[in-house]
Parts: sequence; C-alpha cells; structure tokens
Amino acid sequence: MVADLFDGGPLAVSVSSPIRVLVTGGQGQLGRDLGEVLAGGVPDGGVADDGSGILADLTPGRCEVLSTDIDTLDVVDRGAVRSVVDGFRPDLVLHGGAYTAVDLCESDPDTAFAVNSMGTRNIAEATAAAGAHLVYVSTDYVFDGSLDRPYREWDRTNPCSVYGRSKLGGELEVRAICGASATVVRTAWVSGAHGANMVKTVLRLAAADPDGELRFVDDQHGCPTFTADLARAVIRLALDRRPGTFHVTNQGATTWFGFAQATLAAAGGDPGRVKPIATTDLTPPRPAPRPANSRLDNAALRLAGLPLLPEWTESLGRLVRTLAPGTGSARATISRDESVPVPPGEGADR
Ligand SMILES: NC(=O)c1ccc[n+]([C@@H]2O[C@H](COP(=O)([O-])OP(=O)(O)OC[C@H]3O[C@@H](n4cnc5c(N)ncnc54)[C@H](OP(=O)(O)O)[C@@H]3O)[C@@H](O)[C@H]2O)c1
Repeated sequence: MVADLFDGGPLAVSVSSPIRVLVTGGQGQLGRDLGEVLAGGVPDGGVADDGSGILADLTPGRCEVLSTDIDTLDVVDRGAVRSVVDGFRPDLVLHGGAYTAVDLCESDPDTAFAVNSMGTRNIAEATAAAGAHLVYVSTDYVFDGSLDRPYREWDRTNPCSVYGRSKLGGELEVRAICGASATVVRTAWVSGAHGANMVKTVLRLAAADPDGELRFVDDQHGCPTFTADLARAVIRLALDRRPGTFHVTNQGATTWFGFAQATLAAAGGDPGRVKPIATTDLTPPRPAPRPANSRLDNAALRLAGLPLLPEWTESLGRLVRTLAPGTGSARATISRDESVPVPPGEGADR
C-alpha cells in the first residue's frame, strides 16, 4: 500500500517503510527534544497531546532517526557530511547544529562562520544531492531590532552581531543550494530540559543566593520558546515538506526581566527579587550587541492555518515543574548537574 503522507509535496512512500530523519546538533536543547518526539515520546516539560493533532500521524517507529552532534558529525567537515548523508540516505534533514555562544562569536568569527554558514552550506549541499528535504533552524538575531512591532518573515534582515550574521549566512546558503523548497525556521529565546538556558540560569541564581536580588535587562523584547513545543512544530513542517521561512516561537512576548520574574514565580519564589536594569548597565558589558526588539510574528504559520505554539507562560510553567520539582515551595531548587556556566541574563544562544 502506498500513501502520500506529505501534503506539501508529491513524495509517495510505502506506509511500512520508515521515514529516515537525520538530525544535526542532536545533543543540544532542541536536538534532544527532536529525538524524543521523533521516537514517539514526550520531551520533559512537554505535553502528550496539545489537542491540535499536529503529529497524529507520527506513530512510534514511523521514523528511523540518526541523531548526530559535533563528536559524530562535525558539519564543518564537508567530506564527513557527504559520507554520512550518502550512507544514511535521509528523507528529511533537521539541521539545528550550530555554534550558539553569541558572545564568543564576536571574538571568534571564523568559528561562527565556519559552523553556522559553511557548515550549513555542507549540509545543504549533501541534502540536495540526496534529494532529501532540509529544515534549517535560524534565529531572531537576524534582525536589528529597530522595528516597533513583531518581525514578520518578509521583513528586512540586518543582524547586528557576528552570531546573527553567521546564522543569516546559513539561511543564504540554504536558499542558494536547496532553493525555495527548503524550510527555514526562525526561533528565539530557546529553553528546554537539556542544555544551558535562561530558565536554568534563573533557578540556579535563585537557589545560590536565596535572599539576593537578581538583575535582568528590561529593554530587550522577545518571544520565549520551549523546545518541547518547538520540536513538534519543526517535525510537522518537515513531514509536510513545507517550503519557505517560518517564524516559530511560543505565543506572547516579554523582556528578560519579565522572563526572570515569571520563572521565579513559577518556581514558587518571590518575583519581587528580580530588578530591572538597562542593557547599558550590564557589568561587564556583553561583547555581542542584542536587538532591542526581536519579537517574531508567527505570520506564516498563522496565515497557513497551521497550529501555533502555546503561550510562553504555559510552557514555562511545565518546564519549571520539570526542572524544579519542589515548585510551589518558597525556594527554587535544582540539582548540581543543571548548573549553567553563564552569567545572569545569558542562555546558550543569548
Ligand atoms: N538557544 C537559543 O536561544 C536560540 C535562539 C534562536 C535560534 N537558535 C537556533 O536554534 C538551534 C538549536 O539551538 P539550541 O539552543 O538547541 O542550541 P544548542 O543547545 O547550543 O545545540 C546546538 C548543538 O550543535 C552542536 N554543534 C556545535 N558545533 C557543531 C558542529 N561543528 N557540528 C555539529 N554540531 C555542532 C553543539 O555542540 P556543543 O554544545 O559541543 O557546542 C550543540 O550540541 C540552533 O541552530 C540555534 O542557532 C537558538
């Protein structure tokens, strides 16, 4: 029996043959949750069924997944990329592997462009040669933040950091090599159960100094996004082979100050401990400039009638309950291995 599983494309596959999915950055925040969802599971902090039926056709065993990361597939190595893709013969390639240390990118632009731009060129080239569909995960930092409304997919990009320019370089490579048919997903302010992020930073700081003040900037506006939700949307777009660029974030927007307050409140702490500061008050100043406004309007999803991700506060609550099981008590607590080696206000890609 043959079924057309992809409403966005003509690929007809036997229902009995698994869909082969190659994931890059598989050990990262998003990569871990992509693997979990593709295996038919529910990521920590996620929901089994959000009522949208978004992945109703993704039954356990439907996909054969090859999850790679820098130790198993360094995307900078063109030959290795080609060899892995040729050997696995994926139907779909989910490319989330990236050099995401925004500040370090400023002092090491060669690594940023090697991984995020050239690495994406290598992935795009091998994906195109295999006839597979590529989903490239990009960032809100491709925008300069000067607009006074949320950015739509068709707004002019103008990154203000090396990281942003290197990720935009990846977008250009995808379009140059795979053409219009590839999917570019721009996301923002990412947090998940695995890896370094802002939620863990707030919980760690709150636990380390239970009566101290926490200071976070109140002049950078964005859309917090949770990998348990993001992974489902990325996979849906991939299964449908949706062409074009999509902004995919949780709904609603805030500042890092608002995000820190909400995180503390969700953990049963006192949000009044969080004080707002200006970006110019950060000591030491961050090497990479950040856009003051990187809110992303999920216009393409909305206008295509595709399900939007939940409100960010809802998903934040779920993640905090996962990370700090004592939620509702007066103190947020996290285990040692969740400590995050980043300064206040910073996440992996922040
Ligand atoms: N985090 C955010 O707030 C944010 C915001 C907007 C967009 N994004 C984008 O979303 C995607 C997923 O983000 P994330 O937060 O899940 O990132 P992440 O946790 O940093 O995961 C990225 C993964 O890629 C790996 N990697 C680094 N260099 C590589 C290479 N040369 N070859 C293969 N893999 C390599 C990293 O390994 P190491 O850990 O060893 O470096 C890491 O496991 C990225 O493309 C990022 O640019 C993230």
